[in-house]
Amino acid sequence: MSTATIQERTTRTSQANPLPKTMKAVVLHRFGNPDVLQFEEIDTPQPKPGYIVIKILAAGLNRLDHFLREGSVMPNLPLPHILGVDAVGEVVALGEGVTNVQIGERVIPAAGFTLNEKDDKNRPLAGSPSFVVPGVHIRGSYAQYMEVPARWTVKDDTGLSPAEAATLPVVLGTSVRAVKQVGEVKAGNKVLVTAGASGSGSMHIQIAKALGAQVAATVRDGVKGDFVKTLGADLVINTRKEDVVERVKAWSGGQGADVAIDNVGGSELAKTIEAVRPFGLVVAYGFTAGAEATINVRNFFFTQKQLRGTIFADPEDLRWGLEQVRTGRIKAALDRIFPLNRAAEAHRLLADNQVKGNFVLLPWEE
Ligand SMILES: NC(=O)c1ccc[n+]([C@@H]2O[C@H](COP(=O)([O-])OP(=O)(O)OC[C@H]3O[C@@H](n4cnc5c(N)ncnc54)[C@H](OP(=O)(O)O)[C@@H]3O)[C@@H](O)[C@H]2O)c1
Repeated sequence: MSTATIQERTTRTSQANPLPKTMKAVVLHRFGNPDVLQFEEIDTPQPKPGYIVIKILAAGLNRLDHFLREGSVMPNLPLPHILGVDAVGEVVALGEGVTNVQIGERVIPAAGFTLNEKDDKNRPLAGSPSFVVPGVHIRGSYAQYMEVPARWTVKDDTGLSPAEAATLPVVLGTSVRAVKQVGEVKAGNKVLVTAGASGSGSMHIQIAKALGAQVAATVRDGVKGDFVKTLGADLVINTRKEDVVERVKAWSGGQGADVAIDNVGGSELAKTIEAVRPFGLVVAYGFTAGAEATINVRNFFFTQKQLRGTIFADPEDLRWGLEQVRTGRIKAALDRIFPLNRAAEAHRLLADNQVKGNFVLLPWEE
């Protein structure tokens, strides 16, 4: 039997929209500044058994993409590579054996999943040997088409535009995990969120508010201060002008925050720990200000605080977050959209910290 016949028998595509042979994509051939992102024509993926191909409707950007592009995390990433964890797409081809999704459905691929089905029940899922993240371990969403395992997509019933929905998968799932599961935030808690206007911070604020907490958020300029207020922040601290520890203590009756979600790390982590009350909890989530931090160990254990790390999310985290989106308690924080061929420009602005919420790429050129 010819390869073409096998392909016909096993891959089902829409009659109206058969998969084109080639597609446009943003390809990373070498690490470096944003200009290394090349807009190119490459082969369209074909779905393996158990996989689907989606036509990308929108692809979200994250700080992780910036770290991967510059080669500062995963310097051994095999190149060429296609970045992009976040996607929303329309199902256009089904691999052999796929029955849980239909051609034409709009779906959101999970922002991390297992390749081996025997790992699917592991929790945390990210601890599984076959756990991969699209745009990191396999090809991502900076393209017109993307191949994903059918069992790791959820139907997009958010009611949002594709661009809004594409801001969600990474920041929503991982923030639910950080705030609700690892941070154990409860109604009435006072929660500090650092870099509140970042993609992640904008979700941390909204999730803490959805859980009934009060939130203090740090920013470094007035425009971002106004933005975090629209997300529900009760106290805004501009760390270029104000001392975060003093402001949080004054806000919390002299005690400090019950929980802090730290997006920033580096030289800022010690201040975040100091801004938390005795027995309070700090969740280390990001390292935008640097991967290494110095803390006063004596003060830390004398006050019996806890420092916990978190990475990625379980399907239940994303499900809970999407439910909050559907009921309107959490909103997508879409900043700007860029055509796919201007991915480098979006990366330049992200590197320059000129993002509030998330940027999104739409799959056409301009
Ligand atoms: N644990 C997880 O599962 C997980 C998931 C997603 C992301 N992350 C991590 O979370 C961090 C944020 O990611 P993101 O995509 O939300 O970032 P983002 O949207 O690019 O925002 C980062 C923001 O951090 C602030 N910032 C940058 N340098 C700073 C510094 N030196 N000191 C203080 N603030 C600084 C800037 O905001 P201002 O100008 O307002 O200060 C900047 O816009 C990254 O480290 C990322 O790797 C972790």
